Amino acid sequence: MNLKTSKIISLPKILDSRGSLSFFENSNQIPFDIKRTYWIYDVPGGVTRGGHAFKNSHEFIISLSGSFDVILNDGKKELKFSLNRSYYGLYVPSMFWRSLENFATNSLALIVSSVPYDDTDYIRDFEKFKILRNEAKK
Ligand code: TYD
Repeated sequence: MNLKTSKIISLPKILDSRGSLSFFENSNQIPFDIKRTYWIYDVPGGVTRGGHAFKNSHEFIISLSGSFDVILNDGKKELKFSLNRSYYGLYVPSMFWRSLENFATNSLALIVSSVPYDDTDYIRDFEKFKILRNEAKK
């Protein structure tokens, strides 16, 4: 398995007297072809979303409004990214356990994925994830 690295990706920001505009294009700013877009909103205080990994799909996560944290685990260590601006986002490759938490009221998380929705791509058991991930590193 070819394991990739998570990273913050800055997006273009076009600012003039009318306000700001940012964008990304298929495989231009982000390192995969976009097959699906979804968004998470109306998250009650204290709730954690996610809590799973994907075998194959890659994602790019942006906070379009408000703020939240993305916690990534690579099977050994944990990394926390705070997303709170709409001109950058987090690239999450396959085989990272990821959770979204600490949502501020009225936050809007936009997520683009490299695959159409596929329940069989999910790993929902953290212990199973750690075994698969650490085997893939060998
Ligand atoms: P889930 O992936 O569990 O959400 P989160 O990662 O934020 O905890 O998805 C919640 C429900 O929505 C689940 O029943 C599957 C469904 N769903 C779709 O039908 N299409 C999608 O693109 C996504 C992301 C979820």
